[in-house]
Amino acid sequence: MLTARATLDPAFVVGELDRRLFGSFVEHMGRCVYTGVYEPGHPDATPEGFRRDVLELTREMGVSVVRYPGGNFVSGYRWEDGVGPVEERPARLDLAWRSIETNAFGLGEFIGWTRAAGVEPMLAVNLGTRGVQAAADLVEYANHPGGTLLSDRRRKNGADQPYDVRLWCLGNELDGPWQVGRKTAYEYGRLAAETAKAMRLVDPRVELVACGSSSRSMPSFGEWERVVLEQAYEYVDYVSLHAYYEEHDGDLASFLASAADMDAFIEEVVATCDHVKAVKRSDKRLRLSFDEWNVWNQRHFAGASSLPWQEAPRLIEDEYSVADAVVVGSFLVTLLRHADRVGVACQAQLANVIAPIRTEPGGPAWRQPTFWPFAQAARLARGEVLRVEPDAPVCDTKRHGEVPVVLAVATRDGATGAVSVFAVNRSVTDPVRLDLDVRALPALRLAEHSVLANGDVRAVNTAADPDRVRPRPGTGAELGARSLSVTLPPVSWNVLHLLPLA
Ligand code: AHR
Repeated sequence: MLTARATLDPAFVVGELDRRLFGSFVEHMGRCVYTGVYEPGHPDATPEGFRRDVLELTREMGVSVVRYPGGNFVSGYRWEDGVGPVEERPARLDLAWRSIETNAFGLGEFIGWTRAAGVEPMLAVNLGTRGVQAAADLVEYANHPGGTLLSDRRRKNGADQPYDVRLWCLGNELDGPWQVGRKTAYEYGRLAAETAKAMRLVDPRVELVACGSSSRSMPSFGEWERVVLEQAYEYVDYVSLHAYYEEHDGDLASFLASAADMDAFIEEVVATCDHVKAVKRSDKRLRLSFDEWNVWNQRHFAGASSLPWQEAPRLIEDEYSVADAVVVGSFLVTLLRHADRVGVACQAQLANVIAPIRTEPGGPAWRQPTFWPFAQAARLARGEVLRVEPDAPVCDTKRHGEVPVVLAVATRDGATGAVSVFAVNRSVTDPVRLDLDVRALPALRLAEHSVLANGDVRAVNTAADPDRVRPRPGTGAELGARSLSVTLPPVSWNVLHLLPLA
């Protein structure tokens, strides 16, 4: 058996955990909205048309913030289409996904849904086909108390009190050739700065996210961030990162090591932000909004251009496996390990579209394997994030070079003394014995130990067999005054939750 050693020490603080790290994303794409979160005809829908099963799973998953309405969709969206009496709302062509958008679900419905789900809304404005005025108008409609054309329109539409939306994305992936209304970095940087100025004039409390690159592999990555931030640095609070990973050519070892790329991506964006900070002699330290991340088997998606126009088609409804869940776990560990700079993160998307929650129209909802690491981390990660650096053997991978076989992080809740450890074993073949030195911690007892693994790493959950993959109680952990030892099966996500003895 392989062995790894690490130290758990309350002094090794990365930073305070921001609950916004446990965000998700609802885009008008495929069946994320229609028959995903919203299905008025469903036998278990609320009077507003929200699926109760999806609301319950969203709460169980511990989602803190939800980004909306896109994604690529937002770059052609007119927000006004989605407010006011439903029977007067226009159907439109959604150019991003070649779908027909009925606009039956819009801003008011989304805000109602976030309240029912107990999550914070994060809105994106259209900086593809629209600009400063439409964005400022949307902030006025959403956040201004009343006495103006747009705030009174909101009140007439049934929302007397402002929505008070704090988090806003200044467009989406505007570096991407696929984006409707793509911009150069300079064009976008200027537009983002001017839009941010106007939005803040309407409501000074807004927190704004500038678009970074749509992936680390974009040819303009790095330079895009530098040029955009040279224009917009003083006007924004966050810069965004997006990343999707998949297994290539059956190379499971490289896929399991994907978090190495996410880690490097975060560090490079931090470096670019800090470079611009230095050049500008700014006192402000920008934070990162990793507002799209997930496993996405893009090789299965030929793109939308050849699809017929239709309402809510089945798009990229990836079925996730144990291996995918372990990789999702490694992304959560990586985000937590950067809690000092990553202030927002949104797993994309929430329902049906590359999602942890799947639904059938008129039928059941169920949890994909990827639901579990998210739900466990959101439930048990509390307080301060602690750095854990395992001294571990390495896996040699084709795409990411050598990576430590164990990736881990811990949190410690100063109020309760609870400590949680999250660890991934990325070995395809070998279990690893992980010995944690706990001498710096007060006496603890092991309150929870669970493992998500399976002899078949390709095992999935389906509507007919929704609980095949789920965390099971772990066995064999040994906790003493000096150490905590546990065996991590190959390709596994492991959670240990410790409470003070007294
Ligand atoms: O989440 C699916 C799509 O991926 C989003 O619309 C877009 O922003 C990204 O390219």
